[in-house]
Amino acid sequence: MPLTIAVSRERAPGEHRVALVPETAKKFAALGAVLRMEQSAGTESHFLDSDYAGVTLVDGIPEAYGTAGLILRVTPPLPEEIAAIPEGSVLIGLLRPFEDKARLAALNARRITAFSLELLPRISRAQSMDALSSQASCAGYQCGLIAAARCTKFFPMLTTAAGTIRPARVLVIGAGVAGLQAIATCKRLGAMVEAYDVRSAAREQIESLGAKFVDTGVAADGAGGYARELTAEEKAAQAEKLAKAIAAADVVIATAAIPGKKAPVIITREMVGRMKYGAIIVDMAAESGGNCELTQPGEHVVANDVNIHGPLNLPSRMPTHASELYSKNLYNFLSPWIKDGELNIDWSDDVVAGTLLCRDGATVHATVKQAMGEA
Ligand code: NAI
Repeated sequence: MPLTIAVSRERAPGEHRVALVPETAKKFAALGAVLRMEQSAGTESHFLDSDYAGVTLVDGIPEAYGTAGLILRVTPPLPEEIAAIPEGSVLIGLLRPFEDKARLAALNARRITAFSLELLPRISRAQSMDALSSQASCAGYQCGLIAAARCTKFFPMLTTAAGTIRPARVLVIGAGVAGLQAIATCKRLGAMVEAYDVRSAAREQIESLGAKFVDTGVAADGAGGYARELTAEEKAAQAEKLAKAIAAADVVIATAAIPGKKAPVIITREMVGRMKYGAIIVDMAAESGGNCELTQPGEHVVANDVNIHGPLNLPSRMPTHASELYSKNLYNFLSPWIKDGELNIDWSDDVVAGTLLCRDGATVHATVKQAMGEA
């Protein structure tokens, strides 16, 4: 029996993406897999059922998952969805591995082999599978657009008959994948952009986009190319230098994150108090607590006439391209292991091993095990 790949409609509130787009469905089928999808799973990403040529459409999750060998998802499955996943099958998605012990236990109880794309090693070979990066690009782009739409000033310099308008000043804090995309987007819109990150490699990347690097003298390179948490002294030094740039900005876009940890608080209540009236903060880190002390996840709050936006699930605001990129990431991860309709995973492959969350009824990822108290 050839491998059946199954996809259901995402049910998490506010989630509009889908794990399978028509283009990747065709490519999986060319590898000999059979595809089964819940009706309307792609509709919110603007892919119609009729676009999925060769995919069997069914009504409901149990009908979709049935006896499938491989389940593709964007978000972690809900308890009732886990109950419909066939025992011993393979599940892949952005499974938020550090979030919910009960979910891990439920997956293990059904002996589901789970891959969590957040755990994918950030190595060159895995770039085409890197869902964190593809979705962060969408998120950073959306941050730039939210900032431009909410700003009460033009982003570009304008020379008009009435006089010259100075460009808006944007400060981007955190120049990872999302921050760099936010910088590029704000630059394209004509703003004057400054940016800051604690990783030393970020300076060159910021400057290559035509933005000015804000030098706080603090560098905090951690393991695996990520930033590490700052010490109390480093935080104080950073705050002193950044406060000036924050006070001068019309827009602050904050994207600073430490993997698996709460986001660092960089913009304090006092700093907000010294910002320009009418300034905007778009806090992309809202999802993990926020880079601004006053951010309310999912809300828009106003303090001292500063508008603080804490948007959640930004990639879902542009579900067509976010789904397209995500689905390609899934295909690039899985396709080396599917041949003639059979799934044969090489467990010794370092990308496979690094992304593997659960197998044979147990959590296997060392960092997750430790964080969830299973080590
Ligand atoms: P992330 O989402 O984990 O963090 C966002 C940014 O916040 C990072 O650039 C981080 O340095 C910064 N940050 C953390 N604490 C900060 C603080 N206190 N102040 C200011 N900035 C702070 O990062 P992302 O976007 O996932 O990228 C992390 C790393 O992975 C980067 O080095 C990136 O270049 C690398 N990467 C490598 C890839 C590869 O295939 N080789 C692919 C994608 C990313």
